[in-house]
Amino acid sequence: MLLAKRADMKGILPLSVGAATTGLLYREHRMRTKAERLSAATLETLLNAIDANDAQTGGHVRRVATYALILGEAAGLDEHTLHTVERVALFHDIGKLHGALTDIFHDQSKLTPEERRAVRTHPQRGAEVLEPLSAFYPELGKGVLAHHERWDGTGYPRGLKGKRIPLQARVVAIADSFDAITHRRRYSHARSFSDARRAIAAGKGTQFDPELVELFLSPPVLAKIDEAMRHAHMPQKKRRGNRRRGETQPAPDITFRWSSRSRGSPSRDRQL
Ligand SMILES: [Fe+2]
Repeated sequence: MLLAKRADMKGILPLSVGAATTGLLYREHRMRTKAERLSAATLETLLNAIDANDAQTGGHVRRVATYALILGEAAGLDEHTLHTVERVALFHDIGKLHGALTDIFHDQSKLTPEERRAVRTHPQRGAEVLEPLSAFYPELGKGVLAHHERWDGTGYPRGLKGKRIPLQARVVAIADSFDAITHRRRYSHARSFSDARRAIAAGKGTQFDPELVELFLSPPVLAKIDEAMRHAHMPQKKRRGNRRRGETQPAPDITFRWSSRSRGSPSRDRQL
């Protein structure tokens, strides 16, 4: 009788241990997913704050993220690096929202030397704003800090040279300049796609990483950039027409790989 009972237990015990392990794994998975969503929501909140404060900068950083991702993908960057490229692009100008710089950036007139000096503090200010996120996204602040460094070492704030400039910042620098040229700004008119292409080519090896410039100017990449530009220029009304029924938010015009609303696969959303 006792032996029979023990035999039964042998069958039950492994089953119970198995069920408990499955339960633990499931709980762990749920907690991880929740943490990922929280981190995505934090970044989205930050992006919303940029939009609310300055819609023009909000539009600029999204376009820069789109172009930077096209270039990053063409460069064969791995998924993790692409995520960082996207975040650096989205938050590269967050330092411009600082109270000391807001008036300068909203002023239509040409910058005085003193204002120009103040503007040059925005990478440092941006890195400081993002500092609390450094434990989760260590490359974000570094990339933001370096987005105005130049390949030849004449950039700011640290005068980093060549590959000492973080890769994410080198990618974003090209995308940032391209958008600055092709989009009207407070102090300059929008110039053509060809003008922007020529300006990027002129900066090869001086302002920009020469290998990345070659890649950016390659026909397949330029074709994708051109297509993305057309999409960015599409009138808002037309874009709204594509909205699904009941959808209240406009569809994100970038990948939002880290977004809680992302339509990508679960692995694409994994971000911590
Ligand atoms: Fe900037």
